[in-house]
Amino acid sequence: MSLFRTKNLDDLLRGAQAQQGLKRVLGPLDLVLVGIGAIVGTGIFVLTGTGALTAGPALTVSFVVAAIACALAALCYAEFASTVPVAGSVYTYSYATMGELVAWIIGWDLMLEYGLACSAVAVGWSGYLQSLLHGFGVALPQALTAAPGAVPGVQTWINLPAFLIVVAIAALLSLGIRESARLNNIMVAVKIGVVLLFIVVGARHVRPENWQPFAPFGMSGILSAAALVFFAFIGFDAVSSAAEEVKRPDRDLPIGIIGSLAVCALLYVVVSLIMTGIVPYQEFLGVDHPVSLALQRANENWVAGFVDVGAILGMTTVILVMMYGQTRIIFAMSRDGLFPRRLSRVHPRFGTPFLATWIVGLVFGLFAALVPLNVLAELINIGTLAAFCLISLAVIVLRRTRPELRRGFRCPAVPAVPLLAIALCVTLMTFLQTMTWIAFGVWSLAGLAVYFGYSRRHSLLNER
Ligand code: ALA
Repeated sequence: MSLFRTKNLDDLLRGAQAQQGLKRVLGPLDLVLVGIGAIVGTGIFVLTGTGALTAGPALTVSFVVAAIACALAALCYAEFASTVPVAGSVYTYSYATMGELVAWIIGWDLMLEYGLACSAVAVGWSGYLQSLLHGFGVALPQALTAAPGAVPGVQTWINLPAFLIVVAIAALLSLGIRESARLNNIMVAVKIGVVLLFIVVGARHVRPENWQPFAPFGMSGILSAAALVFFAFIGFDAVSSAAEEVKRPDRDLPIGIIGSLAVCALLYVVVSLIMTGIVPYQEFLGVDHPVSLALQRANENWVAGFVDVGAILGMTTVILVMMYGQTRIIFAMSRDGLFPRRLSRVHPRFGTPFLATWIVGLVFGLFAALVPLNVLAELINIGTLAAFCLISLAVIVLRRTRPELRRGFRCPAVPAVPLLAIALCVTLMTFLQTMTWIAFGVWSLAGLAVYFGYSRRHSLLNER
């Protein structure tokens, strides 16, 4: 039964209050911007091309389906985040409710989400950078532009730009959250600016005949694309991992999570509608910059250039927030003894988990440098969907076991909303590839090996 031993929730809340660890500097607007910073990125700028090929113009519907799945999960997240406002995101919340083993599995899954998303988005970033440089007539040595085997028939060694951007962002984060949040806010403004620019300029070039047929691959095309572009919404939950650095977590966390998700859902639906209205969906084959391609087709080359720059900045903020979330999860797991304690040491001057940040930067920088984008992207969605299912389940459990807890935000219609969230997430998972399921199985087994080999014996709960 000790597999299901839980952390004491009241100790947890007291401990978080007493601890002079992380600085409380973030407000509600910062959080919405942290959310948008994490959400709008490779999903909308790169994956919409593949999504359009899979669903046709009905990609818009796929975005709606994915948004509904995320919104349902977001309501559960928001309740947890406002009840247990300590670092570590859903990992910590599940530790206090579902027990150590489930918490470990969730933390391990979240490493697929946050960590690998850093790597995947860095690869997309590198692609856009190279395309921008190409516009200025600059070409990097080919061997240094992609992971081995990423480009068929071309000998490549390492994706150097992807590695460097991940390490640069680790350096920034290790110096302190206040500076990082300020930079994040500026870049998010630029990112939303170029998306709005696309909408305003692109709308004039829409030809409604491109929307016919609307759903050439039917419902299965729509759901397959939804399972893919689900990636575009990943990140809203990163808001909750900042809990210990928020001034008023019970009010601000739900605003941050639900606000950022709503803004992005609206932008995506409009962008995908305009994109497929400008360019017939078949023409997105093999295109890795579909948004700016649509503008180029409309002879808006200057605007396309701006979108390229905005996409690069936009993806930078995604890496920033994802890495932030990853370091805080490792911080929390280490504080509990499940990872070595050195990883939760806070730097005396910068107030950040310095060592953990640098390890995350180097490890996931290497993934970005050496693993192709498609391999990374497939794993991220399945890890995230699995974590969403577990957290939705946890919201039901906590309502039963600790009904008296003060909840800054209450998820409506429990258990209907969490159960619907689970049903929709599982449905999307069934539309992912078999290889993805196998890799996910291997990752999960590795996680169990670490848990039983190290974490279980070093857990702080042993001291009780
Ligand atoms: N949602 C993030 C993106 O699309 C991960 O880049």
